[in-house]
This record gives sequence, structure tokens and C-alpha cells, in this order.
Amino acid sequence: MSGKVYITTPIYYVNDIPHIGHAYTTVAADILARYHRLLGEDVFFLTGTDEHGQKVEKAALENGRSPKGHADLLVENFRKLWDRLNISNDAFIRTTDKEHIKTVQGVLQGLWDSGEIEKRTYSGWYCTPDERFWTEKEIVGGNCPDCGRPVERINEENYFFLMSKYQERLIKYIQDNPSYILPETRRNEVLGFLGNNKLGDLCISRPKHRLSWGIPLPFDGDFVTYVWFDALVNYYSATRYLVPDTGEAGPDEFWPATHHLVGKDILTTHAVYWSTMLMALGMKLPGNIFAHGWWTVKGRKMSKSLGNVVDPDAIIDKYGADAFRYFLFREVPFGLDGDFSEDAIISRINSDLVNDLGNLLSRTVTMIEKYRDGVVPGPIDGKDREDTGSRIKSYFEVGPDPSFDGFLKQLQFHHALAWLWKAMSRTNEYIADSAPWKETDKEVLSNTLYTLAETLGIIAVYLFPFMPSTAEKIWAQLGIDRGMGEETEFPKWGDVHVEGNRVKKGEHLFPRIEKKKEGKKEAAGDNPPERETPEGAGLISINELAKVELKIGEVISAERVKKSEKLIKLRVDTGQERQIVAGIGKAYAPEELVGKKIVVVTNLLPVKLMGVESNGMLLAATGPDGAPVILMPDKDVQAGSGIK
Ligand code: ME8
Ligand code: MG
Repeated sequence: MSGKVYITTPIYYVNDIPHIGHAYTTVAADILARYHRLLGEDVFFLTGTDEHGQKVEKAALENGRSPKGHADLLVENFRKLWDRLNISNDAFIRTTDKEHIKTVQGVLQGLWDSGEIEKRTYSGWYCTPDERFWTEKEIVGGNCPDCGRPVERINEENYFFLMSKYQERLIKYIQDNPSYILPETRRNEVLGFLGNNKLGDLCISRPKHRLSWGIPLPFDGDFVTYVWFDALVNYYSATRYLVPDTGEAGPDEFWPATHHLVGKDILTTHAVYWSTMLMALGMKLPGNIFAHGWWTVKGRKMSKSLGNVVDPDAIIDKYGADAFRYFLFREVPFGLDGDFSEDAIISRINSDLVNDLGNLLSRTVTMIEKYRDGVVPGPIDGKDREDTGSRIKSYFEVGPDPSFDGFLKQLQFHHALAWLWKAMSRTNEYIADSAPWKETDKEVLSNTLYTLAETLGIIAVYLFPFMPSTAEKIWAQLGIDRGMGEETEFPKWGDVHVEGNRVKKGEHLFPRIEKKKEGKKEAAGDNPPERETPEGAGLISINELAKVELKIGEVISAERVKKSEKLIKLRVDTGQERQIVAGIGKAYAPEELVGKKIVVVTNLLPVKLMGVESNGMLLAATGPDGAPVILMPDKDVQAGSGIK
């Protein structure tokens, strides 16, 4: 029996046009989907759009459109981008689909009937742009602790999902299922959060007078459903009406999901809201929620106001969909944050795609044309000088290779690509070692050319999940006229059957890209550039700077400050031991800090934070979404080292 694999992306808000971050998650899901299909498994790959709620209503209003009219227009941007990126989704869900609306209402009615939802008067601080309530303790000086914008005091009746009672069960579930939430650091974060905070109940309604663009509650027409409750149910509702009907299996064929891929920004809604919703419904939990990292540009969050949003269409126009797909997954380990730059794409293209891959193919095809009139010779056993060919063969003894397979199943895409590129460099070395242009034994030459062609035929299949059209082009040049998408068995050595094929030399797979010349470098040191700022305005002298004492500190121990989500108490060795308290608890788990070298301001007056004394301050950058990112030295230096 073949496996059933259900892979999802977040459903994206139609308040805006898609950018590289949206492309990232969707390509990741596509890589997995294509890989599992190559293994012969049945795949259901879902993406779609989140169309209700305040953000969409507001964006529609600003554009003078009805919310649905706005969604109908903007959804096309996502569909077009997925076409251009070669995304092989099996279905596309819109939360305005009437079947989805019916499913959400069914789910709500079920929870209401079984007493999992209660009506209460609620009073709290509301952040309109974020569409969420905060408690008195959480707000910071009258502002939203998340986005920093002002919050409003609101008193109203609402419906609550009794989420709090599932806290212990959820903790246990996450503990018992180590790969439920990945990567591990995110899992620890969620466990840390659940272990240190009392989970509240979840307000799942909005009064119609405040927001009308939503799914009406089936049991109270004065309210619509909170957009996150509506959105999360998409993963379930799609399996009710969007799975292509094969007539064999029932609606639970693809339930629950194998992988929910999400960005780290929406991990809590998935790990906590969605999991407890499913528990209350008595439904199965997904196999895995994977929260990947965040793409920034020059270290900053992409935003319209900064004008630094990277348009995926422009990147595809310039470099092609496959180079873009490759870059996203080779450059940064899936799970970590990454910084996007065109320079980095160009370097990857020139070294990995032009040199390693493109040259390997063009040399192979050229030699087959030159030495064998364009027809791939068959293998001749034993006709191999010093076993060089067998070494290549050993990479592909079984299909797929177990390390490659392991990497893909753990979503370690960059490791999978590194493995494949190692096989490629070995193959390039093989050409150099066997020097076909000097080979005098005809049979050895034939065998070498066959080995190269078969290797490339297999490499193309390994590449297919990542770079589908490049993989097809490789096959076309090797004269293989089957469509790779129809393959349902992963090939091992000999399975591609290149022998007898007529090669068709095409264009080089990737043209080399010239980097734009950098502007004149500023003269270093002796001629400092003139400043436009008037003398003294906001500037400090070097003497003033010297007053700040900075040292490298090594974290000896770390623990959360009781009753605080944010504060972590650290013992740090900065040449002498000191205690500091830092507001990093939402971004870091204490366990991951121990042993780390950090930068500490050591001559600050002591302060008390929530009753705990702090002697100094650690330096952190403001990362994406305002989360702190601790500065750490780039090489190992001793604790207590000074900083200038
Ligand atoms: O949150 N880097 O939709 P959304 C990496 N509708 N990934 C990024 C990114 C970046 N800079 N920016 C966006 C929503 N993403 C809800 C989801 S699901 C039931 C409802 C990706 O349009 C990443 O996957 O704000 C992130 O989680 C998602 O887009 C947020 O998309
Ligand atoms: Mg968002």
C-alpha cells in the first residue's frame, strides 16, 4: 500500500500582494510534495488564501472595493505566482468557498453543543491592526506589546473556546511526540511558554457591529467568527471537498495532515489554538507542524513602509524560477532566519548552477556528440580505469539514497542539496580523472560516457523536487522523452536507461551572471567622508562612547523569571560573575543560552526587574517582528574580553 501524504502551507491573507516570504513556504511544500510523489506516494498538497477578517476588510475599503471583490482580485496574484514558480498544489482553498463556510459552522456548532464554547462578557485591551486582545499586564505603556501601536479598551460580550482546559494535555502531547513541533528550538519555545504561563480561553467571535466580514456564528447571528478560527479549519475543510475523488477512499483519506508548514510568526496559532481545537473536537492531531525562519533584507523586516519588499516576480524575471527556488533552500537551513540579497543569488548561480551543474551537463553532452555521434553508448562491465566509475555508481546504489531521503523527511533541504552537490563534484572530478579526450581504449571511453549520462539522468530526478524545469531540461538533453512528473519509482543506478538515446544539446542551463560593479569604495581612515549632519546634532564624541564599558560574557546559567513571559535571569561570567535580567524570553529558551558568549554592558547602574536585580545589560538587535536577536562574537573569544 502506498503512503498518503498531506502537506499544507498557511493560507495567505489577501490584503496584500505576495512576496518572497510567501513564496518560501509554498516552495518548501512543493519540494516535499514532489519528493513524496517520486516515492510513489499519494500526495494531497494544499495552499490557498485567508479572506475574512479585519485586515482584508480594511484593505478592501481602502481600495474602494467590497471585501469579496477585493479578494477575487488579489487571489489572482497568488495563483499567478504559484504558476510561475511551478507549484504543484493539488488544491487551492479560499475561505470564502461556501463549502468551507459550512464546515466552519459545523465545527462551531459541534463545539457549542458539547459545551466547549461559552458566552462571556469580556473586557480587555484590543489591538485593531493585530486583531487581538491583550491583558492589562501584557500591554506596554498603552501600546500593543507585539506591534507597538496603541490599544483600545473594549467591553463586550463574546464567545470563548475553552482552550485553557487543554493545557496539560497539550504539554503532554508535545512531550510524547518529539517531532510534533519542529525545529527543536521552536518546540522548546512552545513547551517553555506552556510551562510558564497559564493558558487562557480563546475569544472566537467578533460582534457584527465591529466587524461584519466573517463567517456568522451558527448559534448567534449577531456575531461572526474570529478570523484565525475560520482560517485554521481550512486544513480540515479542504479534505471534505477539495480532494480529487478517486472513488476508492472516503473523506478521511488525507486526514490529518502530515506536515503543516508555517512561518515562525504563526507557530502559536498552530501549535496551541489548532491543536487544542482538534482535541476539543475529538479529532486526530497532525503529524508535524514545522515553523521555518524569517527572510529579512539587509537585516530588516520587509515592509511597505520601508520600501524593501522583495517582489518574487522581479526575481523570477531576472534569474528564473528554478534559480530562485534553489537559492531559497540552499542558502539558509530551513528553520533558521536568512537575509535575502541579489548578490548572494548571483554567487549561488555562478558557482553551483553554472559551474557545477550546467558545465557537467554541457561537457557530457558535448563529448557524446563528439566521440559517439550523439548516441549514448551502453555500459560495458569492468571497463573502468581504477574503479573511478564505480565510485560514482556507489552514490546511487539504491534509490533514493538513505541520507538524502533522511534529510528530506526531516525537512533539512540544505543538507539534501549539499549531498547532491557532493555527488556532482565527484562526477566532475571523474571527468577530469578519466580524461575522455585522451582515452585510447574505445570500450573504456564508451563506458565512461555511459556512466556520465546515467549519473546525470539520476541526478536530474534528485533535482526535480527543487528545480523541476531544470530537471526536465536535463532529461531532454539526454534524449529521455518521458515526463519526470509521471515517475512513481525513485531510480537507482541503471534505472534511467540512457543507453541508445540520441542526445540533444540545448542551451547552457544557466547563463553566467555578471555582478554589477560596486560603487567606488570610500577611502579608509585617512579621509573620513564629510558629514551632512550639523556638528553635534545627535552625535557623541569618542570620549563619550568610551564611557560605556562593554565586555564579552559567557552564560553560566539561565532561568525564567517567575510569572514573566519575557524576562530571563542569567548568570554571566564577564571576568567576574554577575547576574543580569534580559527581556528575551519570548525569543529564546533558557536552555539554549547556557554556554553562549554574549556582549554585556558592564558599567550600568543596577536595576530591579520584576523584583530581580540586574547588573548590566546584554546587547541584542531588533529582529523580524521586533523579537530580540542576541549579539554574539563571530569567533570564540574569552569571557571578560574587552570590546572597542
Ligand atoms: O498569517 N519570511 O497570513 P500571511 C519567511 N492568514 N516567511 C514569510 C515571511 C518572511 N519574511 N513573510 C511571510 C497569515 N511569510 C494567516 C495564516 S494559516 C491557517 C493563516 C510566510 O499572509 C510565512 O509562511 O501573513 C508566514 O507564516 C506566512 O507567510 C504569513 O502569511
Ligand atoms: Mg502576517
